[in-house]
Amino acid sequence: MIRFFTAGESHGPGLTIIVEGVPAGLALSEDYIAVHLGRRQKGYGRGGRMLIEQDRARIMSGVRHGRTLGSPIGMSIENKDWVNWLEAMAIEYVENPSQEGRNARVTRIRPGHADLPGTMKYGFDDVRNSLERASARETAARVAAGAVAMALLEEFGISLHSHVISIGPVSASPVDNSTDSIDWDAVEESPVRCADSEAATRMMAEIDSAKEAGDTVGGTVEIVADNVPIGLGSHVHWDRKIDGLISQALMSINAVKAVSIGPGWDIIDKRGSQVHDIIEPVTDLDRPWQRKTNRAGGTEGGMTDGMPLVARFAIKPIATLRNALPSVDLDTGEPVLAHFERSDVCQVPPAGVIGEAMVALVLANAFMEKFGGDSIPETRRNYEGYMKTVGPRRVFQ
Ligand SMILES: Cc1cc2nc3c(=O)[nH]c(=O)nc-3n(C[C@H](O)[C@H](O)[C@H](O)COP(=O)(O)O)c2cc1C
Repeated sequence: MIRFFTAGESHGPGLTIIVEGVPAGLALSEDYIAVHLGRRQKGYGRGGRMLIEQDRARIMSGVRHGRTLGSPIGMSIENKDWVNWLEAMAIEYVENPSQEGRNARVTRIRPGHADLPGTMKYGFDDVRNSLERASARETAARVAAGAVAMALLEEFGISLHSHVISIGPVSASPVDNSTDSIDWDAVEESPVRCADSEAATRMMAEIDSAKEAGDTVGGTVEIVADNVPIGLGSHVHWDRKIDGLISQALMSINAVKAVSIGPGWDIIDKRGSQVHDIIEPVTDLDRPWQRKTNRAGGTEGGMTDGMPLVARFAIKPIATLRNALPSVDLDTGEPVLAHFERSDVCQVPPAGVIGEAMVALVLANAFMEKFGGDSIPETRRNYEGYMKTVGPRRVFQ
């Protein structure tokens, strides 16, 4: 079983990550993880924090001479911004904390953030105690964990990508996942991670316009996993269904408000004949069970069906507004403008990289559940043995 934990406050000393369950013998390096962390830091519409941080995960355990040991993989990412928060985020007791600038208690609750429920739930009298962990800084840790999962999946030919399909009211021209191929290099080069360069220009204008108004803007992202073997997940229990697991993982990303597998809501006005994917006669035993289309988004009955896995999510506009929303004060309940501190205007482009990480972690766990093994050669034997059985029964048994 692949499990992971993250720890760390946004402006604390750093983030800590533990990934457990990775078989021994997988090639893994800090440089590989840094590529994914760097992808998360990019994106038009990010705030000043990304200029301060240059995320790099230091591997503390579980890897020797470039290969995993099968033991927990411990990683640590330094928060470069920590030096600016030494008193406000001090680990040690602070006597008479100053109430100047960023050291001041935060009492002006931001609607749309974890401020109010987090502060009530944990009995705090300073919103900073909940906002620090609710911050999406934590998603850097998820991307580091996801990179480990991706390295494992890549070992078996599974690759993950993401692209932005809308920002605010601007949508990219639709991609048919059955027939169109997406230029992933163009996505990586796009400031908004969008394959449609004309739409990307309009998306950037939308971000500029929101920024000028002191406002923020959300959007939608699609994740695609290629070469996923048939049969990951299971139909036998609700909590083993791969579509359910992917949905939960994506919904857990900060500010995500809707998730769909494949076209999701787009199918509701269509008939069955327009929704399901016809199975083609098997002519190539190395590639059985081909479909004309991939409308299901790569899952049937809670299992992967051998087609590319396609998941989408919608992410709400950021809750911290420079043109602050009316709110109330935590101490008095009286009207105030919500707290503002350095913030992104649009987090949709990096959200795709975080989504890839979350889907990779779910797929890697399902992959290990199916194939098991304590070392890569053992997992590979199990995987190859299974793949030999996947085909028309009279031919394969
Ligand atoms: C990559 C990324 C960056 C984010 N940056 C900010 C930010 O700068 N300021 C902010 O208020 N919220 C930001 N958010 C969103 C908050 O973390 C999120 O709105 C908050 O946790 C409450 O979200 P919820 O309603 O989904 O729980 C970001 C989210 C993501 C995914």
